[in-house]
Amino acid sequence: MKPARKLSRIGDYYFARKREEIARMEKDGEKFISLAIGNPDLPPPPEVVDELTARLGDPGAHRYQAYSGLPSFKEAIARFYRRHFGVSPDPATAILPLMGSKSGIMWLSLAYLDPGDKVLVPEPGYMAYGSVTILAGGEPVAFELEPARRWQPDLDRLTPLADEAKIMWMNYTNMPTGTPADRGFLKELVSFAKDKDIILAFDNPYSLITDQAASILKFSEDAPVVEFQSMSKNFNMAGWRLGWMAGHPEIIRATAKVQNNAESGIFYPLQKAAEVALDLSDEWFEQINRIYARRKEKVKKLASRFGGTCSTEGGGMFCWIHLPEGMSGERLADEWFYKYRIFIAPGTIFGKKWDNYVRISLTVPDDLYDEALRRLDTWTS
Ligand SMILES: Cc1ncc(COP(=O)(O)O)c(C=O)c1O
Repeated sequence: MKPARKLSRIGDYYFARKREEIARMEKDGEKFISLAIGNPDLPPPPEVVDELTARLGDPGAHRYQAYSGLPSFKEAIARFYRRHFGVSPDPATAILPLMGSKSGIMWLSLAYLDPGDKVLVPEPGYMAYGSVTILAGGEPVAFELEPARRWQPDLDRLTPLADEAKIMWMNYTNMPTGTPADRGFLKELVSFAKDKDIILAFDNPYSLITDQAASILKFSEDAPVVEFQSMSKNFNMAGWRLGWMAGHPEIIRATAKVQNNAESGIFYPLQKAAEVALDLSDEWFEQINRIYARRKEKVKKLASRFGGTCSTEGGGMFCWIHLPEGMSGERLADEWFYKYRIFIAPGTIFGKKWDNYVRISLTVPDDLYDEALRRLDTWTS
C-alpha cells in the first residue's frame, strides 16, 4: 500500500485542499466569497446546451466513440483556427481532442518523458506543468518570467537549460499575469524550439479571453510545436471537460497513442455540441470580455484597499496584483480567508518567488465583488 515515491514530491492540489476547508467551514454556517479559482460562473451559449440535449437521442450516441475524436469535431476545430487565427491545421493529422486540456498535459508528458528527462516550466505559471512532469517520471526545471520583460523569459539565459531539456512549457495569454501573446515573441519561441530541438508545448486555454488573440501555430510550420486550447474558458464549459491539442503531426500521433491506451473517446453529444460553440460569431467573445472588463474595475477597487496594483494589460480571467513592497501574499490571503471569508490565491502557488503578488479571479457575479468590498470596509471599521 506504499504509494510511489514520486507522489511524495508533489503536494495535494492547493485549490482542492482549500475547497475542502471551505466546505467544512460553510457547514458551520460561514459564507465564503471565492475569488481564487478561474471557474467561469457565466453560462455556456444556450444553443450549445440545446445541441447537447438534442444529440442525446442520436443513434449510437451512448456507445464508445472514435479514440482520437469525431472527424466532424476536428473539422470544427480547424474552422475555428482558420477564422480566429488565420491558420489551418490538418484535422486528420494535426488535431487531437482531449477531455480538458489538462489531461493533454499528462498524455504529452507520458509520451515523451523517460525517467529523469528535464522539462522547462515557467514561473509564475500553471502548477500542473511541474507536478505532471514529476508524475510522468521527469524533472521540472523552473525558469523565470520577468516582470521587466512583460512576463517573458530571457531566451538567451535559457539556452543552457534548453540544451538539456526535452519539453518546454509556455503559456500566453498568460496565467496568472494576464499578459497577452506577443506575436514577435511567439516567432522567437518557435525558432528557439527549432534550434534547441526541444518540444515547445504552448498552452493557450485563454485564447479569446483577450483582445489580442494569437495562436503559435500561425508561426510554427514544421517546428516541434504543439498548442493546447480549451472549451473551458472561451465558452464557459469548464465542467464539460473538453479541449484539444494541435500542431506537429508526429507529436500528435505519439500523444494519441498514450491517450487511447488510457481513455476510450469522448461522449458523442459533448463533441457535437462543442462543434456549435466553435462556430459562434465574434459577438460571443465580445460580450464575455465586456463582462470581465467590468469586473476587473471592481477588482482594482478591492486591490486598492491594500495598496495593490492590478496588471492592467492583457486578458485572461484574473487580476495579477502586485502588493506594496514587503507585503506577503500568503499572509494577505490567509487574513482574507480567516477574517473576511474571502478566498484569494497567493502568488506563491504559481512559484515560490512570487510572494509579493496575489491573484483574484473575475469569475463570480458582479455583486459578490461589491459584497467583498463591503466586508473589507465594514469588518475593518
Ligand atoms: C494555464 C492553464 N492551462 C490549462 C488549464 C486547464 O484547462 P482545462 O479546463 O481545459 O483542463 C488551466 C485551467 O485553469 C489553466 O489556467
